[in-house]
Amino acid sequence: MINVVGSYNVDMSFKLDRFPVPGETVFAQEVRLGHGGKGSNQAVSASRLGGRVKFVGAVGNDSHGERAISFLRKEKVDTSCVKVKNTHTGSAYILLNGGGETMIVVNRGANYELLPEDLDSCLDGDVLLTQLEIREDVVKMALSTFSGLRILNPAPAEINDPEIFNYVDILTPNDVEFKEISNSDDMIYSADILLKRVKKAIVVTMGERGSMIFTREKSVRIPTIKVDPVDTTGAGDVFNAALAVYLEKGYDLESAVVKANIIASISVTTYGALGPKPEEIKEKFPDISL
Ligand code: RIB
Ligand code: NA
Repeated sequence: MINVVGSYNVDMSFKLDRFPVPGETVFAQEVRLGHGGKGSNQAVSASRLGGRVKFVGAVGNDSHGERAISFLRKEKVDTSCVKVKNTHTGSAYILLNGGGETMIVVNRGANYELLPEDLDSCLDGDVLLTQLEIREDVVKMALSTFSGLRILNPAPAEINDPEIFNYVDILTPNDVEFKEISNSDDMIYSADILLKRVKKAIVVTMGERGSMIFTREKSVRIPTIKVDPVDTTGAGDVFNAALAVYLEKGYDLESAVVKANIIASISVTTYGALGPKPEEIKEKFPDISL
């Protein structure tokens, strides 16, 4: 089983021709309300790929929270450790430009009320997947008490306590987050420094350029397929979900990253932050076998 500890947000996406500049007003072509939050996106996307998934997180005691829980259940995610807090559900406001790029503002809401004690008797999987849209002490508690494989997707890359990296087996920043964490443009040098703490590997996702895997032994670039992006929201979440699913199935890291790259690329060809189901992959990309 995969345990995902993280956030749920209700996403409001505004599709624009281009991003506004400060002081400017632009009209949206379309507005969509969807399920989001990095934790929930990763949990649902992993479940769609056939993983057994438990989501550990918090929603508010409002209608968005109720809808979130029934959605997660419909997606076959175990919600026994989703806490309902006496506040509003987290929300995200997403601007989407013509090229599928995004700008996102998050209001944490209930996600920030999830406390270390809320994890009690909730972590019982083989793989832990967590991110940084919840309190850092909760992330640290999860990582430091979990006994299986631990993946930290350091998004957003706001880390106050670098000791957190000591409890990570695989760190999965995107290229921007990797620069923020390491304060440097030199990937190889930064990977070397971080691998003094991170136990197994750093996998840096780079969008259409694929991913870089850094271990103590070697560094390799794994390319991905070429697609026409319409919405890159959640591409990183889909990547992490697929990585967790294939690692849990026993694939080695390189083979799991090959698959995760492809599935993440496919996910940016449709709107919304969630990953595809295997039958959708087959229908749209009949030549790809996963
Ligand atoms: O990673 C994408 C997610 O980031 C969105 O679903 C939004 O909720 C923000 O948290
Ligand atoms: Na998408």
